[in-house]
Amino acid sequence: MPAGLLLFLRLKAVLQKCLPALLCRGLYSGLRVILQPMSSSAASSASPYNYESLKVSQARDHVLHVELNRPDKRNAMNRAFWREMVECFHKITDDSDCRAVVVSGAGKAFTSGIDLMDMATMLQPQGDDAARLAWNLRKTVVEFQETFTVIEKCPKPVIVAVHGACIGGGVDLISACDIRYCTEDAVFQVKEVDIGLAADVGTLQRLPKIIGNRSLVCELAFTARKMMSDEAKSCGLVSRVFPDKGAMLESAFDLASDIATKSPVAVQGTKINLIYSRDHSVAEGLNYIATWNMGMLQTQDIVQSAQASFEKKTPKDITYSKL
Ligand SMILES: *[C@@H]1O[C@H](CO)[C@@H](O)[C@H](O)[C@H]1NC(C)=O
Repeated sequence: MPAGLLLFLRLKAVLQKCLPALLCRGLYSGLRVILQPMSSSAASSASPYNYESLKVSQARDHVLHVELNRPDKRNAMNRAFWREMVECFHKITDDSDCRAVVVSGAGKAFTSGIDLMDMATMLQPQGDDAARLAWNLRKTVVEFQETFTVIEKCPKPVIVAVHGACIGGGVDLISACDIRYCTEDAVFQVKEVDIGLAADVGTLQRLPKIIGNRSLVCELAFTARKMMSDEAKSCGLVSRVFPDKGAMLESAFDLASDIATKSPVAVQGTKINLIYSRDHSVAEGLNYIATWNMGMLQTQDIVQSAQASFEKKTPKDITYSKL
């Protein structure tokens, strides 16, 4: 091959490789100049997580702590809460710095459930006839369901730490979480029948998948009786019980922190596939993960993890790229 042609081809290869990066960098710095005033003003508010009913803080590296934060109302779920949970977990889903979440309640109890004042407005839907009323009411219920479904849709593991009362909507909330811890004084109550309705934001759908004891689930849901921490542990609703809230939170943060050291490609793929498998047959689940992993097996995280293990290191010693 003539030397000139060879040189041309090489140059072309080099350019093809570098040009997009150079262009992007140029574009990016250009954009940065344009966006500067905007982004700096946005960054001036300390945390992007600012809510009325929730308090979000960074507990450990890559671990966010979401607290139900209406302690004087026993964290009753008001309008702001139903909306803000969705906003908060959407943000967490997109936050590549966050790899695990701990949810707990501020004050004396985890939550007393739905704020009954809100129920009143909810049960007065608008509509010119029965069909339109029903239509609008359905829309409201679906919106409320989303408040807890976002926890499940968020690919980062969510650990919930329950102390004191966990009533009504509280059980709906925790059944959408991945891991449940509680204190010895925790009390769980599927309270909805006592206020005249069938639970409609997740308990009846998710609890039977968590507690493999159908008779017990029915008993709890039909009677609204209290379930104490020892029974919650023995039936598998919670995986650990602690003497007090401090010890529980410390362990929950340790657990979240441990999860956060691992490959986010591995952890988040695991959550998504565990939930998929819960809702599908074994054959469908295997099919789904085969397709999932035809992309995800190509991650650099596997190379890094394998190399670390040859060098007798653990995931803790590796810095995985953000996801
Ligand atoms: C179901 O729950 C009840 C009440 O906690 C318990 O007594 C019973 O042994 C459980 N059954 C099974 C099969 O786990």
